Amino acid sequence: MKKLYIETVGCQMNLLDSELVVAALRKEGYELTGQAADADTVLFNTCSVRQHAEDKIYSALGRLKEAKRSMPDKVIGVMGCMAQKDQKLIFSRAPFVDIVVGPGQLHQVPQLVREAREKPGQQRLEVSLGRTDGKVDDIKRSHESFDPLRDPTMRPTPFQAFVRIQIGCDKFCTYCIVPSVRGPEQSRPPSHILAEARQLASEGCKEICLLGQTVNSWRHTEDGRAWRFSDLLYALHEIEGIERLRFVTSYPRDMTDDVLEAVRDLPKCVKYLHVPAQHGSDEQLRRMKRGYTVAEYREMHDRAKRWMPDVAITSDFIVGFSGETEEDFQQTMDLVRECRFKNSFIFKYSERPGTKAANRLPDDVPEEVKRRRNNELLALQNEISEEDNHKFLGKRVEVLVEGPSKTAVRNLERADANAPLTGPLQLTGRTMCDRIVVFDGNPRQIGQTLSIAIYDVNLHTLFGAVVTEHVGPEVFTLAGV
Ligand code: SAH
Ligand code: SF4
Ligand code: F3S
Repeated sequence: MKKLYIETVGCQMNLLDSELVVAALRKEGYELTGQAADADTVLFNTCSVRQHAEDKIYSALGRLKEAKRSMPDKVIGVMGCMAQKDQKLIFSRAPFVDIVVGPGQLHQVPQLVREAREKPGQQRLEVSLGRTDGKVDDIKRSHESFDPLRDPTMRPTPFQAFVRIQIGCDKFCTYCIVPSVRGPEQSRPPSHILAEARQLASEGCKEICLLGQTVNSWRHTEDGRAWRFSDLLYALHEIEGIERLRFVTSYPRDMTDDVLEAVRDLPKCVKYLHVPAQHGSDEQLRRMKRGYTVAEYREMHDRAKRWMPDVAITSDFIVGFSGETEEDFQQTMDLVRECRFKNSFIFKYSERPGTKAANRLPDDVPEEVKRRRNNELLALQNEISEEDNHKFLGKRVEVLVEGPSKTAVRNLERADANAPLTGPLQLTGRTMCDRIVVFDGNPRQIGQTLSIAIYDVNLHTLFGAVVTEHVGPEVFTLAGV
């Protein structure tokens, strides 16, 4: 058996890509190891969305220099968005790297690794065409969706799976590198998506998470039928065995009535929408070229809440983008106060070479101002998240159990990682509105949907106990409190 070490940063797309690459390399006789030092092949699946994500990978690569010197046949590969963005630059910054492979070329990884082992000392670069490198159709073809047959043993949990429905992005928000590294927006045909979902269900998968940069913009015409995203949700809902359907990330302008109706009316649809607003000021949204106004975002948000009062909505925000005044920033604070998001991911603007913003809009908000605004917005969001979690105290929620909690995983790692899971164990799972719940249970409950009574909450987590129903008298007891 050869040993593979893989490190993944970035979004869910990258998590799925890594899962599929690992599955492909297992077929070549690889097994996973947690140590880069003794691995035969080391892969980094990278992200370019912010400078920080790239710095992390370049320093991790730097740490491998010595290991490569003492083990020259170790294959080192850089894949993903930074591979597409930096290409040969990676070889000049880290000359001991053997393979650089973009996210549109992942099907080539097994062969590239094989070649690198057979003919060491030859660097291999496989990337897709840039957005201005040819005809649109050729560019599209050069970004291939990597969706080979799934292997249930490769997933983090056998009953949950990501399913890609769209690759690339055509929105070209001025700050964003994704359209240039992931290529043109392309939708997968519904027949492929449904076949993959059916296969996953037949292997015991209960929850499917659909992936796309603007997932609700998905549309596809196949055999003369024009499919909307909501049609796809209805079709997936029919599949026996699938209990939960979720999707990320939604684009505000495409949150049309039919999508909200589908989420409201389909019991398997998780009542959770990740719809990044990015900013609370019209001037900033215009400079970002997001394609909507704050009023339009508010209207979409209010419509979702009116139709589904219990829906959980989360957002992303960028602070310190070009030209952001204190007044602009306060408008973001106002939007968060008003919308009371379940959670917000907050990012300091990081200029990305090659984007419209980098070419035309100065990165003119000082770092300390960005940091202060980030902290202020985060403090406000945290306050809201904790207050809203309090509403769950004393309530019962339905939880799909995902596995041992973070604490339990840490304890297990300290004990013996290979020991079989038995006996009482702290578990974690999610509600239909995407809240994380931690409770005491046992390993055979992993993958089940349980009723949990909530007795404590904090910012990010609900704490509860399994509700044990007794047939007969109208009483129930709480086990494990
Ligand atoms: N497709 C998704 C987002 C993908 S990137 C969408 O449109 O919402 C994830 C998040 O990173 C974005 O929502 C944005 O908030 C943030 N982001 C993207 N580019 C960034 C940059 N240059 N600097 C800081 N944050 C950025
Ligand atoms: Fe980037 Fe905008 Fe596309 Fe999202 S919609 S991936 S933020 S360009
Ligand atoms: Fe990063 Fe690429 Fe995802 S740039 S956020 S890994 S699409």
